[in-house]
Amino acid sequence: MCGIVGYIGKEEALPILLEGIKNLEYRGYDSAGFAIVGDDKKVSSEKAVGKVAALFEKISGRSFPGKLGIIHSRWATHGGVTELNAHPHSDCAGKIWVAHNGIIENYKELKKELLGKGHKFKSETDTETIPHLIEEEIKTLSFQEAVRSALKKIRGTYGLVIVNSDEPHTLIAARNFSPLLIGLGDGEYIVASDAAAVLKYTKNVVYLDDGEMAVMTPSSHKVFDLDMNHREKETHVIDWSPELAQKGGYANFMLKEIFEGPEAVENSVRGRLIAKEGLVKLGGLSDSLPLLRDAKRILISGCGTAYYAGRVGEYMLEEYGGIPVEVDVASEFRYRKPVFREGDIFLAISQSGETADTLAALREAKEKGVPVMGIVNAIGSTIARYTDAGVYQHIGPEIGVASTKAFVSQVSILALLTILIGRQREMSLVTGRRIAEELKKIPDMIRRVLKQNDEIAELARKYQKFNNFLYLGRKYNLPVAYEGALKLKEISYIHAEGCGAGEMKHGPIAMIDENFPSVFIAPQDSVYEKMISNIEEVKARRGPVIAIATEGDEKIGEIADDVIFIPKTLEMLTPILSVIPLQLFAYHFGVLKGLDVDKPRNLAKSVTVE
Ligand code: G6P
Repeated sequence: MCGIVGYIGKEEALPILLEGIKNLEYRGYDSAGFAIVGDDKKVSSEKAVGKVAALFEKISGRSFPGKLGIIHSRWATHGGVTELNAHPHSDCAGKIWVAHNGIIENYKELKKELLGKGHKFKSETDTETIPHLIEEEIKTLSFQEAVRSALKKIRGTYGLVIVNSDEPHTLIAARNFSPLLIGLGDGEYIVASDAAAVLKYTKNVVYLDDGEMAVMTPSSHKVFDLDMNHREKETHVIDWSPELAQKGGYANFMLKEIFEGPEAVENSVRGRLIAKEGLVKLGGLSDSLPLLRDAKRILISGCGTAYYAGRVGEYMLEEYGGIPVEVDVASEFRYRKPVFREGDIFLAISQSGETADTLAALREAKEKGVPVMGIVNAIGSTIARYTDAGVYQHIGPEIGVASTKAFVSQVSILALLTILIGRQREMSLVTGRRIAEELKKIPDMIRRVLKQNDEIAELARKYQKFNNFLYLGRKYNLPVAYEGALKLKEISYIHAEGCGAGEMKHGPIAMIDENFPSVFIAPQDSVYEKMISNIEEVKARRGPVIAIATEGDEKIGEIADDVIFIPKTLEMLTPILSVIPLQLFAYHFGVLKGLDVDKPRNLAKSVTVE
């Protein structure tokens, strides 16, 4: 998840590239860089760590002439946040320059081969294999053919812009699972990861599809597949404002990120499941496999949404992984003098990797000699650097303050970890395979849930008049009840309480009357009958009930006032589906109240203070 822009045309490239990348900064902002090719075939490049502003500052007052160029703002995936790892990357001769969004899965093999052929690498990135690969191919092929041939050797995801100083009138772009479009200007083309970068110059765009590459000169563009078959492309006219474009056409980042749930799960799971063998390969944990095999207990810690993801992980890891787990909110863990034992492993969960309480809990464990691991989204963040090993979420930046896509990703990674740890213990091949196969189906299942967005908006409208909500769940969906209540509190400032449905009779039920609705997360799982009884108890006290239920469940509709359905899946994976309607419900509730759902009052995206 990075921002890339390429320009070819009649104007000086750099100002257009800088303007474009500023609009894409929300896609990644740990470092930035560009390469400009002059008519004299000279390349000038500059890179800087930090936000795009740092690059602006570095080049101020200098000139970089040329009407062809590429620029990139990075969201690190492979290699730390350094100037050397910032894009674009070049070949040995400094002629071929590439900016890339995505992950090259087979880069280690390719790099080994290229090193064997004498190529010299400057960065630790997966991307740098691409210019070297093209450099190898171009010895016998044209630029265009060399790019095509290199792409055929690559396995993974990419949005690419590529220039070659020997051809100062050609820009090449290619796409596989990472977004890329071409803005069609008057005697110029602007390629970008999304429309926000091109709208100032043109509203006419061509969207590249997976497996396509485009070759542009200042006066022409052609799109091919990787077998060089010509592709006819439709021109789309976009009438979004640049601001709306940043949000991909969604009204705000929160909604966009909820809708990115399927992609978040795909990105977190991609290349990590060996479904046929019921196994999991997590690169960041490969050196820790013996430690995990000998582990006697896992201590999970996090804050807010990350903590609730950890609570789902507790159920998964104990039931299927066969290992004891304890989960603490990080702010408690650090003060309650936890007793550590031989065989403990500490696992921090944090989207930002910067949450002060989570970091403090991590330090506490590490100082006591406990091996520390992490599930983190932000590459190179403090928690990522401080842990001995870990798993990155690979979901791109989450901008909305209330965490949404990070939760589904974290739970998916905990499912991967469950397979990994479970298979080291008693989990059978059949069970490992079953979880893996089902996990692969989850993104499409989320898409099905998202289709009910309009119905959920309607539900939010219907329940607007209420000021208190109770969210109830059991087992895997108890943490989802807490998370659903947290979302409503954060986004709409409405009082909501999460509660174990079994615990309701010990207090919360006293609040129930016709003005106090309950949200029951009640899929058809091992605690379904108990949940139905709890719904009956609430209905007996005239409490309005919204239920999240399994598709095809007719019984629940007879007792609940409103039902939102989720597809049937393994019990341990239901939280990834059941949380979606709750995110949407909170979202619509906040919007209807006229609130800023991306930046709720009093909250911060990354809480770096205690
Ligand atoms: C803040 C955010 C929450 C988030 C929590 C933990 O409170 O508002 O949405 O869940 O921090 O953040 P982390 O980055 O550690 O996952």
